[in-house]
Amino acid sequence: MKRSLTGIRPSGNPHLGNYLGAIKPALALQEKFECFYFLADMHTLTTLKNAKEMRSRNYDMAATWLALGFDAQRHSLYRQSDLPETAELAWYLSCCTGMGFLEKAHAYKDSAAQNKDVNHGVFAYPVLMAADILLYDADLVPVGKDQKQHVEMARDMAGSFNAIFGIETLKLPEPLVAEEVMSIPGLDGRKMSKSYKNEIPIFASQAELKKLVMSIKTDSTALDAPKELSSSLVGELFALFGSSEQKADLSKRLQAGGLGWGHAKVELFELLDAIFSEKRKIYESLRVDEAMLDSVLAHGAEKARAVGSKVLSRVREAIGFKERAF
Ligand code: ADP
Ligand code: TRP
Repeated sequence: MKRSLTGIRPSGNPHLGNYLGAIKPALALQEKFECFYFLADMHTLTTLKNAKEMRSRNYDMAATWLALGFDAQRHSLYRQSDLPETAELAWYLSCCTGMGFLEKAHAYKDSAAQNKDVNHGVFAYPVLMAADILLYDADLVPVGKDQKQHVEMARDMAGSFNAIFGIETLKLPEPLVAEEVMSIPGLDGRKMSKSYKNEIPIFASQAELKKLVMSIKTDSTALDAPKELSSSLVGELFALFGSSEQKADLSKRLQAGGLGWGHAKVELFELLDAIFSEKRKIYESLRVDEAMLDSVLAHGAEKARAVGSKVLSRVREAIGFKERAF
């Protein structure tokens, strides 16, 4: 069975953009692939330096995957930091990767352009990400559009490593980007993102969800005037979650006039609440059981290690390092 692998940084409350762009497409692969999904906490360290928050965000993210339907018995869910082998492989890849190549990575370019204090972790981010992928012989990497470049860089790094050492040691992965959900808009119409603070958390409480949905940007067309759902932000979000019948029905009523954007937002809220209310309850019950989450993650790490240690042996052999005998 081919292997699908992806990671999400536990860097804040997972939101609807993460859900549609990354989590849902990854979950849909569970029938046909063996899935290795992980909490990319070593990547989070590039920006978060707070132990309490790091621990808590990891549990949030683990409970999110499980509540949304990840089958941790059949597949593997693990913390990146439980497998320091990743850092070892990242070093080997670093030594085969040019500085100029990494300077092209957009995460680094964006940070540098904003004159942010760029640490070496941000610069080396794509190398660590390549190690995450290549350590497990991943075939497919489902990611949001903004991560496609990083997966292509991982492919390039695998290719260079193989060419340098003259043997096919690392498997070249394929990115999988769900085209129809490339960029989910947030409350203000820009891409939904924690960094813009315009997100709708997947498991927002009912009251918070309502408040956020009611704050979606709309124009000031009068209540009785006809309105176009499809050219509005409310409509864009509604279309992503509702069926085509639900969308056509709301669209018709808005075009008829007499229905305000406020009403449309209430209907969007009801739609989202219906989709997520059961899962929210499951999330809350899983989130309080940290011992259970630890045991799921430990089990996932064990399965990941069984694969990763073999790949790492291959890599060490190719480089000319001795097999570890201790
Ligand atoms: P954020 O921008 O909120 O920090 P992340 O960078 O942690 O989100 O993204 C985690 C995953 O979710 C990535 O695969 C990313 O492509 C996907 N993703 C994030 N925001 C969106 C969005 N608005 N639309 C589609 N996918 C998204
Ligand atoms: N860089 C990804 C993000 O910012 C997270 C990530 C880390 C990842 N390692 C990965 C995604 C490996 C896919 C495969 O969202």
